[in-house]
Amino acid sequence: MCGIFAYLGPKSNSAQIVLEGLKKLEYRGYDSWGIACRRDSGEIVIEKHTGKISDVSSLKKELTEEPAHIAIGHSRWATHGGVTDMNAHPHASEEKEIVIAHNGILENYESLKKDLIEKGHKFVSETDTEVFAHLIQENIGEGFEQAFKIALSKGAGRYALIAISKNEEKILAARRGSPLIVGTGSDEYFIASDIPAFLKYTKKVMYLDDDQMVSLAKDGITFTDLKTDKKIEKRTIIIDWDEKSAEKGEFKHFMLKEIMEQKMTLTRAINQDEEKILEVAQAIKTAYGTYIVGCGTAGKVGMVGTYLFSHIAQKHINFMFGSEFSSFLPFMKDKSLMIAISQSGETADTLEAIEEAKKKGVKIVSIVNVETSTMARISDIVIPIKAGPEKAVASTKATTSQLAILTLLAYACAGKLDEGKRLLVATASQINDMLNPRYENYIREIAEKIQNVESMYIIGKDLNYPIAMESAIKLQEVSYIHAEGFAGGELKHGPIALISKGTPCIAIVANDETKAGIISNATEIKARGGYIIGVSPENNSVFDFWIKVPDAGMASPIVSIIPIQILAYQLAVLRQNNPDMPRNLAKSVTVK
Ligand code: AGP
Repeated sequence: MCGIFAYLGPKSNSAQIVLEGLKKLEYRGYDSWGIACRRDSGEIVIEKHTGKISDVSSLKKELTEEPAHIAIGHSRWATHGGVTDMNAHPHASEEKEIVIAHNGILENYESLKKDLIEKGHKFVSETDTEVFAHLIQENIGEGFEQAFKIALSKGAGRYALIAISKNEEKILAARRGSPLIVGTGSDEYFIASDIPAFLKYTKKVMYLDDDQMVSLAKDGITFTDLKTDKKIEKRTIIIDWDEKSAEKGEFKHFMLKEIMEQKMTLTRAINQDEEKILEVAQAIKTAYGTYIVGCGTAGKVGMVGTYLFSHIAQKHINFMFGSEFSSFLPFMKDKSLMIAISQSGETADTLEAIEEAKKKGVKIVSIVNVETSTMARISDIVIPIKAGPEKAVASTKATTSQLAILTLLAYACAGKLDEGKRLLVATASQINDMLNPRYENYIREIAEKIQNVESMYIIGKDLNYPIAMESAIKLQEVSYIHAEGFAGGELKHGPIALISKGTPCIAIVANDETKAGIISNATEIKARGGYIIGVSPENNSVFDFWIKVPDAGMASPIVSIIPIQILAYQLAVLRQNNPDMPRNLAKSVTVK
């Protein structure tokens, strides 16, 4: 949710470096973009526009014609203020003395703005961010660094902030809730919301934690704890990321690449440190209540988890969305356990749930993809899903890997870890057979048939009820078709009124004791004119179109979601949507 990137170092084309780096962060927000560079003369020049940065090949000559060794940039996911050039970051104080970029929300911006206006400051945008620029400017008499600290002490909310000044050759940055990572090269520094921005230049990184700031200057780097105002030492971590794994390669879109990668990623997820899985299983068995927390797709995976634990380990596990968690906080005890699920490890709602639970002494296990994320760093135990960078906004490979980890944990809880592993290894090999161009083309046939519909519905039962809801998320976010997922049995209690002649309805039918019930729900829909697309190991006379999936038992959610991911992708392409960057969304939701 908004990408920030800055450079300071010997290269004089800093704006160009920031432009290239920002393109790697576009997944974080693509409403608008902007870059500011500080010419060696001290003058700061800014270019900002609405639209996607990936479409930009060159910058205005003002940013490139004179040497500039410092630049900052931003790609925006709009919160306060519409998508306009004026609201794009960076934002500046009067005379462009202070220029800043910001990810997050300055919650008390209205009162601060009123106060600043009374003091004579002139605002040009509708953003909360601009307040920070004027707030620093207001106190600049105290020096850039001190004025920056004063602004931070007055601002409320969760954010990451970077600032440059006309008068000093440095970049100041601070975080409270939103990620910021420093990359160090030879005599040069980078700071970004995510590592891919500077991976081309360095794999040496240092993480900024909450309530810490960093000052990057030619003569070195200094970290400060904002609570104590004391200097702190940071450990340098060497990242073992491969730049290529974050590229599209031969694929037209990241989403398709990531769907296809499930051939390998599931196997990597299964190959977990067994000791750790057993340790977490033991923690679940002895906990005073286990609470799974996640948002969006990760939340739907968590809901599947409650069914897996019930069936496999006969264990009751609670689930809540991160944003709903606070209502259940009173039940948390110091012997409770929280399992947080997140691809990015940076989702604000999930992080906030963790922070609240931690205050009560709850032990935190996180199932994350980004092992260096905030969530991973604040958890007691981290189970990495090892899916590799997931760039498309729609989560695909992370989803199936998260499902695999929960399946392993449920089997481990039942003392049957080997059985769980065998099931998942067999499922991974079946997926391998599924993910081929023939299967993709077959699903394209149905995508072509339904591409112009207004609404579609997905039904599932038991383990596949949350998968019906996850299917709806996939279809909504990339195809923009109105889609809703229901428990099959719930349909007759209301939603069936929405079915009319030709309404497509996907029925996810596992080959188990739930089959008869869900087939009968599909028959009820068909009787009202619905067009039934069956996702099932076996064909059935009620299906108008059958998508075959392997018979995978408790791994049924893993195999059932894959064809629907492909369908969503195909629909997006047919409807000329960009599946990697759907409208109004961002990959990592770092605001509440
Ligand atoms: C998935 O397709 C969505 N883009 C979204 O629901 C996502 O799963 C959610 O925002 C949670 O993200 P996280 O896994 O990074 O925490």
